[in-house]
Amino acid sequence: MPSLNLELKARDADPDATVARCAALGAADHGVLDQRDTYFSSRHGRLKLREEDGSDAELIAYRRPDTTEAEQSAFIRAPAADPTLMREALDAALGEKVVVVKRRRLFLWENVRIHLDEVEGLGTFIELEALVGPGLNSPVQAAEKVARLRSELAIGDDALVAVGYSDLLLDGVQTLLRAADAAMRTAYAPYSEFKVGAALRARTGAIYAGPNVENVAYPQGQCAEASAIGALVGAGESAIAAVAVVAEKVEVCPPCGGCRQRLAEFGSADTPVYLGRPGTEPHTTTLGELLPLSFGRDELGR
Ligand code: THU
Repeated sequence: MPSLNLELKARDADPDATVARCAALGAADHGVLDQRDTYFSSRHGRLKLREEDGSDAELIAYRRPDTTEAEQSAFIRAPAADPTLMREALDAALGEKVVVVKRRRLFLWENVRIHLDEVEGLGTFIELEALVGPGLNSPVQAAEKVARLRSELAIGDDALVAVGYSDLLLDGVQTLLRAADAAMRTAYAPYSEFKVGAALRARTGAIYAGPNVENVAYPQGQCAEASAIGALVGAGESAIAAVAVVAEKVEVCPPCGGCRQRLAEFGSADTPVYLGRPGTEPHTTTLGELLPLSFGRDELGR
């Protein structure tokens, strides 16, 4: 028998405020979990291998409808004794689709799980999962509690997200590449004739993009990444969750050394960087790989 949940997912632009609201509600704080979910192609519903720091891995088969309404999802959890081998076997047989890496702060309130998720490449989210079953919640109780939490935690209609992280990520990479491509087409590069566009996904999920802008006095030119960072900071944001760079004349345009440092200011070592073109599988790396042994705030003591 699958277990049942009533679920709601939304973007969370201010996780600190949500933590304070959870505390005010008296929700029990179960700390932070580092989770890595590998999704595989599947015939029915979804299939993921969950690896979590400090816990045994498990294979989870589930079905969730794509909707912004609070809806029931059904899931089956099976312990995975050897996750590395299991990943290999499932990849060989079904094919790996996408990996979702997230840091989850878990609160529990009256048999409702409250997840404050920071998802690599996507930003920050809140999930409500009311457990449905004997001794937990009836379907009616689950619906009432989710509605009450929605209002206590100030989750607005426009923040609601209909699809899962894996779909957001699969779609999100292409969306980011398309934004970088559109910016590239606006480049002002009469001297190098090398047009570049960069797009940054902020932690809130919003995308900021910019092109390279050159100058007849060559050193005054600005890279696409710097333009995109200006747009992000100018919008009042300060954290980069993902980066895409597209260039007109090369398939893969690695950010220059200076831009690696610029991006590192607002991202983290895990921040994914997608280099390629829309409609194709990009070369995927991270800021940490692009800028190892980087000079950062720790060195300055800040
Ligand atoms: N360029 C970028 O915009 N980003 C990079 O990371 C690599 C280089 C631009 C700068 C200049 O306008 C042109 O490409 C040729 O170097």
